[in-house]
Amino acid sequence: MGKKVVVTGVPGVGKTTVINGAMERLAAEGIAYKAVNFGTCMFDVACKENLVSDRDEMRKLGKDDQKRLQQAAASEIAAMSADANIIIDTHSSVSTPAGFLAGLPEWVLRKLMPDVVVLVETDPDQILMRRLGDESRVRDMEGARAIAGHQEFNRAIAAAYAMYTGCTVKIVGNENFLLERAIDDLVNVLR
Ligand code: AP5
Repeated sequence: MGKKVVVTGVPGVGKTTVINGAMERLAAEGIAYKAVNFGTCMFDVACKENLVSDRDEMRKLGKDDQKRLQQAAASEIAAMSADANIIIDTHSSVSTPAGFLAGLPEWVLRKLMPDVVVLVETDPDQILMRRLGDESRVRDMEGARAIAGHQEFNRAIAAAYAMYTGCTVKIVGNENFLLERAIDDLVNVLR
């Protein structure tokens, strides 16, 4: 049975960057992990159904559509993680126009049953600057205070995921100029 590690964090905190660094480090040590992006699995289905034209539109869809896309992504990922060690790059909660939506509701958790949920966090001002510097994405306009609120909500909902699955919750800081430290922390969880 492979290890299932869910890596989460608010948009732009740097989760994909930290995952890529950790994957490189583990590959050099001969430890095999497959990394899968939950949003990409959802997006593939959403595109086939002509629901969206870019991934940032998904969080604006109605809650029932998002639930259906979550279920499709969770089934696909569960199938590929039967024996392999897997990292799932996703969100503890998604900020939608109707409020925070659980990224790992019961119907996703039941399929994935992660060993660890990682929360990648940093100072909200740093996240704001990273978002402003990334022109490839359509980010919501929100200030440092709203980002701080989202990070707090993510901790609260991760506690619920731990209660449901028995997984551990690991907080990994990804501060400016300290990316290597974040990678070290994630590698220690994955080893
Ligand atoms: P997804 O693609 O995961 O969106 P995202 O969170 O916006 O992901 P990003 O890749 O943009 O951010 P990141 O945190 O990975 O940052 P990055 O490494 O790029 O999801 C797309 C959509 O899918 C969601 O909006 C949602 O609709 C849907 N979705 C996904 N999962 C879902 C779920 N479970 N349920 C429902 N919907 C779901 O880094 C950002 C920048 O920071 C880069 O420029 C990088 O160079 C820089 N950076 C990183 N680390 C550092 C550092 N230490 N110092 C300085 N700069 C740094």
